[in-house]
Amino acid sequence: RTGVTEIPVVVHIVSSTPEGNISDAQVKSQIDVLNQDYRAANTDLGKVPAVWATLTSDTRIQFALATTDPHGAPTSGITRTATTTGSFGTNDDVKSATAGGADAWPADKYLNIWVCQLGGGLLGYAQFPGGPADTDGVVILHSAFGTLGTAAAPFNLGRTTTHEVGHWLNLLHIWGDRLDCTGNDDVADTPSAQRPNYGKPQFPHVSCGNGPNGDMFVNYMDYVDDDTMVMFTQGQAARMAAALDGPRSSIGR
Ligand code: ARG
Ligand code: ZN
Ligand code: CA
Repeated sequence: RTGVTEIPVVVHIVSSTPEGNISDAQVKSQIDVLNQDYRAANTDLGKVPAVWATLTSDTRIQFALATTDPHGAPTSGITRTATTTGSFGTNDDVKSATAGGADAWPADKYLNIWVCQLGGGLLGYAQFPGGPADTDGVVILHSAFGTLGTAAAPFNLGRTTTHEVGHWLNLLHIWGDRLDCTGNDDVADTPSAQRPNYGKPQFPHVSCGNGPNGDMFVNYMDYVDDDTMVMFTQGQAARMAAALDGPRSSIGR
């Protein structure tokens, strides 16, 4: 893969309240964030501690709302569905019209993003490459989506979607989802870390013998606040490129 890959996106807004029926402008603010973050064009990239500055990466992946629907008709790339479901979970009901959600568009041609109310403090979740097509994509809490409208601090900079799309492109959490220093994200240039970081940590946060620089909590694949996660590494970009060359090769041009 050379040059820049552009991924067509459909955003399915599934809402049971007027508030949850977010505006087109809020959707567009999220697409803008994805394009800044994945191209290392985010204005807060300077928050990366100097020791990791050379690891920051332009992934050469960008995103655009779809202009053609699955039938070949013009589209805004946004669908709107009214539901009686007040709050969704991780059971994928939001991805099914018969379960109160909206059906996926073909996953080999579109990145499906569902935006809805989620329960249990969940900001979002994702399906990794290789799963069933009808549930492929990411699901995001409406108040953690984009940078305006219902987006609410500290998750109002669009980074939940940056993080979940990272999973969709096969990235793992940088602590490897174990809490005993044996976890691994299969990326060499992200330091091993014991556990997720939350909030706004101070540099350095040392764990798992990873001193002096410690955990790379400024990485999009940690759990810190939106204003604290600002980078992907070269190794993460390579892993995403491998997904686009492999299980996701049918998407993007
Ligand atoms: N799946 C994670 C959660 O729901 C997403 C975390 C995203 N973090 C963020 N600062 N936006 O907790
Ligand atoms: Zn995650
Ligand atoms: Ca690593």
